[in-house]
Amino acid sequence: MKLLHIDSSIQSEASASRLLSAAVVAQLKEHDPAIEVTYRDLAADPLPHLTLDRFGSAEGEAVLEEFLSADVLVIGAPMYNFGIPSQLKAWFDHVLIAGRTFRYTATGPEGLAGDKRVIITASRGGYYGKASPGEANEHAESHLRAMLGFAGITDPQVVIAEGVAIGPEHRQQALDAALAWIDDVTPVATTA
Ligand SMILES: Cc1cc2nc3c(=O)[nH]c(=O)nc-3n(C[C@H](O)[C@H](O)[C@H](O)COP(=O)(O)O)c2cc1C
Repeated sequence: MKLLHIDSSIQSEASASRLLSAAVVAQLKEHDPAIEVTYRDLAADPLPHLTLDRFGSAEGEAVLEEFLSADVLVIGAPMYNFGIPSQLKAWFDHVLIAGRTFRYTATGPEGLAGDKRVIITASRGGYYGKASPGEANEHAESHLRAMLGFAGITDPQVVIAEGVAIGPEHRQQALDAALAWIDDVTPVATTA
């Protein structure tokens, strides 16, 4: 069983999404100590923007292969300017490749990577949930779901620590709630 752990926050110890993605990986490892974890830190080791030369290059292929060979993906995803960090977008640009992770058919696009389990640990300074004033500006979780869905991954599990910039109490409450959710993360073999 292979797990690909991705972080994208520019913060290190102070990062909520990193703390939560690490907690998910720890929880899954507890269930299955033999799980093989590959870690990609997109802030410490950013991928370049996609260029034509990059398509089919050894470097680009390595990123794609790493994604294709993973059974489980854990993605730490902070909200930056209402969307995902550009570092994380660059990673998606490397793995959403026609003919490899999706294809166009006579009846529309078809995802080719739907066999993966994905858990996203998201963090955001404000509130963007249903019926909140920020809802219309939520372009991080929705973008992640759209990109994963295009690759056939239609059921990512998403835990969000939100309101973390409102104040220390809000931040702690959000983290505690997310960590409680993570406590119930099931073993890798199941998707419930
Ligand atoms: C460059 C930057 C842009 C941000 N943009 C937003 C934003 O649009 N909306 C929001 O609610 N929070 C925003 N924040 C706050 C972060 O989402 C929040 O601090 C979150 O915890 C960051 O994740 P991290 O703790 O894993 O680094 C921004 C933070 C940074 C550094």
